[in-house]
Amino acid sequence: MNNKKIKITVLVSGGGTNLQALLDAQKSGVLKSGEISLVVSDKPDAYALTRAENAGVKTAVIEKKSYRDKSDFEKDLIKLIDDNSTDLIILAGFMVILSENFTSHFRNRIINVHPSLIPSFCGEGFYGLRVHKAALEKGVKVTGATVHFVNEIPDGGEIIMQKAVNVEPGDTPEILQRRVMEQAEWIILPASAEEVSKKMLAERQ
Ligand code: GAR
Repeated sequence: MNNKKIKITVLVSGGGTNLQALLDAQKSGVLKSGEISLVVSDKPDAYALTRAENAGVKTAVIEKKSYRDKSDFEKDLIKLIDDNSTDLIILAGFMVILSENFTSHFRNRIINVHPSLIPSFCGEGFYGLRVHKAALEKGVKVTGATVHFVNEIPDGGEIIMQKAVNVEPGDTPEILQRRVMEQAEWIILPASAEEVSKKMLAERQ
């Protein structure tokens, strides 16, 4: 582990294409100020875990389902992240809304990618394909993705980067999701990870 880099923990729940974009960015040098040192999933069968293992990155599972109390789940998650001496947390398709207890513990140290142009189609209940379904139902002609800091308001933290993507005739939620990932999320998430890591490194000097 390189001490001159920001230590990153990525939280995932699913397929992990955004995690893959981060791993690829690390390989290509787009992400150079930070290093992914741990990937944590709340779901044991998340394919994102396989992506991390294939890249030689340490993984852990804290299964949300096995906790009766969300605060106990968050307590164990905080401990795991702190034990890994994490500087920056990246939510890459992590489908859990984090409480104020969690977000205030890591103030200005959590970023998230959301598949719309915030403040449209965001907040509680807007995640994954549901976001694209809502955008198509509304009939918007332009959507996109946002990377933002995470605070106690779901999708309400300071915006870091946004990128617009056109909606095309005949789009289904699945087609639109893929286009938003390809044209926006996989670009702005690694770019934001680098921007934030670089700033954190500079503040450390
Ligand atoms: C991505 O589109 C991400 O923006 C979204 O879920 C998908 C996860 O895909 N996240 C949210 O909706 C969070 N509110 P991935 O597992 O392939 O990265």
